[in-house]
Amino acid sequence: MFRQKSLPHIITPRCRLALLEPHQAEIMAQFRNANRLHLRQWEPTRSDQFFTAAYWEIQLRIALKHFRTGNSVCLVITDPAETEVMGVCNYTNIVRGTMMSCQLGYALASRHQGQGIMYEALQASLDYIFEEVGLHRVMANYLPRNQRSGDLLARLGFKIEGHAEKFMQINGRWEDHVLTSRINPNEC
Ligand SMILES: CC(C)(COP(=O)(O)OP(=O)(O)OC[C@H]1O[C@@H](n2cnc3c(N)ncnc32)[C@H](O)[C@@H]1OP(=O)(O)O)[C@@H](O)C(=O)NCCC(=O)NCCS
Repeated sequence: MFRQKSLPHIITPRCRLALLEPHQAEIMAQFRNANRLHLRQWEPTRSDQFFTAAYWEIQLRIALKHFRTGNSVCLVITDPAETEVMGVCNYTNIVRGTMMSCQLGYALASRHQGQGIMYEALQASLDYIFEEVGLHRVMANYLPRNQRSGDLLARLGFKIEGHAEKFMQINGRWEDHVLTSRINPNEC
């Protein structure tokens, strides 16, 4: 069975990216509560439980387990001292063998938008995914009306590969998405 060894601790000029420990669940719940309205239009419908520390304690435990078994790398973006969650970038559905691919999803706190923070976090974490995890393709999908997300992916070198009708349920509705991906630049 596949086993990913050491946990990532990625340092960028303004943030730190890591898998949080279950005892840090409170700052995840704070991030989710503070951004409940901001993120609602871009994400699946969330239950009330989703906004509690008890929920995040379990999710952080699951994220660590899924990291070790090589299924996902769910990174939390914090300030350098890990006092505040600024956002998340989740590399999930890792498929190995002849695909070596994963899906990328991300969200940034409303108050940290417009400063290049997510660009900085994704650039550094993509380097980790390509160089350390060794994946070949990272796929990311966005709503056609999500201009900020489309701009961010384009700046990171993601290429549009198509459009999928009623691809994902967002805020209670099946929504069309733009499909993009980025190939590992270190491969020939
Ligand atoms: C999508 C999302 C992460 C984009 O956040 P963002 O802050 O716009 O993204 P970036 O990190 O690329 O920052 C770009 C902005 O910072 C500005 N900026 C300032 N300093 C910068 C720097 N050093 N480097 C890059 N950009 C910088 C850019 O000009 C740009 O501002 P503008 O949008 O006003 O032109 C954020 O809007 C979000 O979380 N949205 C809700 C959830 C969501 O949509 N998730 C994705 C679903 S597909």
